[in-house]
Amino acid sequence: MKRVAVIAGDGIGPEVIREAVATIEAARDRFGLAIQLTAFDWGADKYLATGVSMPAGGLEMLAAEYDAILTGAFGDPRVKDNKHAADILLGMRFGLDLYINLRPIKLIDARLCPLKERTERDVNFVVFRENTEGLYTFMGGNFKKGTADEIAVQEEVNTRKGVERIITAAFDYARATGRKRVTMSDKANVLTYGHDLWQRVFKEVAAGYTEIEANHLYVDVLTMWMALDPARFDVIVTNNLFGDIITDLGAALQGGLGMAASANIHPGRVSLFEPVHGSAPQFAGKNVANPVAAILTAAMLLDYVGYKEAAAAIEAAVEAAVRAGETTSDIGGTLSTTAAGEAIRRHLQSD
Ligand code: NAD
Ligand code: IPM
Ligand code: MN
Repeated sequence: MKRVAVIAGDGIGPEVIREAVATIEAARDRFGLAIQLTAFDWGADKYLATGVSMPAGGLEMLAAEYDAILTGAFGDPRVKDNKHAADILLGMRFGLDLYINLRPIKLIDARLCPLKERTERDVNFVVFRENTEGLYTFMGGNFKKGTADEIAVQEEVNTRKGVERIITAAFDYARATGRKRVTMSDKANVLTYGHDLWQRVFKEVAAGYTEIEANHLYVDVLTMWMALDPARFDVIVTNNLFGDIITDLGAALQGGLGMAASANIHPGRVSLFEPVHGSAPQFAGKNVANPVAAILTAAMLLDYVGYKEAAAAIEAAVEAAVRAGETTSDIGGTLSTTAAGEAIRRHLQSD
């Protein structure tokens, strides 16, 4: 029995996660999966009502009792400092040591790509984003805050262990999936301490994977090539902040944030699955958000817990629905969130 904690979260989170859960249940029925889903109400409403973001012992409970976690998004205009999102989302990424943020950039239908004359063949790569350090550690501080002399320092943390394990994960993935090239992206021309570590570790790790081409691009020019010629990318590995930024650009290449799935993984441990998008508060409660990112995220979850056939079937059903135009309006259709989810489940049941 695989146990999945479901934390729908804020904004459009509950609406897209409802479709993801219904799709997992449809796959469970079709493939006879042994899977149990348990909902948790962690998020902005609970935080505002009780002051509790992540309940005490929450991480330990997830690690001890669950195989995977499925979440929507965290972020609410009423919580100005985003404290609950940091506690829950970054709390899980850091507290469960989910060092791989795996974000596939895969175009399903050429119609959805904003680039001229680009097809499914041109947009098909994966980003390995370091997920436990970098500029995300909240190290730093203020001095003389609020005065004319104020100083604000935000530290970027790069550890040899952290850099080595994400680069190794990217090469292992390339080897396991037959991908030919790993591109490491940094800003070592300016960040001459932290990103020099990335340069050195990248060369060391690459030496163990001689069949895979290892190349490097500074992140500024990487964004240029993502827009001009995404076909040159196979696997990209980069730090936490750059990975965050380039995967929204990657989402745009797939048709928008409504299409982009992601996984936060520590191999062998409870791992976290969430769409790349946020809570899009302006769409919340309107039944218009695209559920595809959440449903593809659910497929990544099933793949991770070992239900590979069901995962592939969900992916195929999404592709069929998208190609048939059975989608929400962000990618050109006319369906609501629920109707788009139902269309995908019809393909899952009948194709
Ligand atoms: P966002 O991803 O929520 O939305 C940006 C835009 O992308 C939206 O305006 C919309 O046009 C489009 N979009 C996103 N998801 C969509 C979907 N499913 N269907 C259709 N269109 C979609 O980013 P934002 O507006 O910068 O952030 C809103 C809140 O979400 C903030 O509080 C932010 O901190 C938070 N956030 C959370 C996560 C997360 O929990 N993983 C990720 C990103 C942002
Ligand atoms: C993401 C989001 C998060 C991040 C925010 C909400 C903390 O943008 O998952 O891409 O920066 O990692
Ligand atoms: Mn982001």
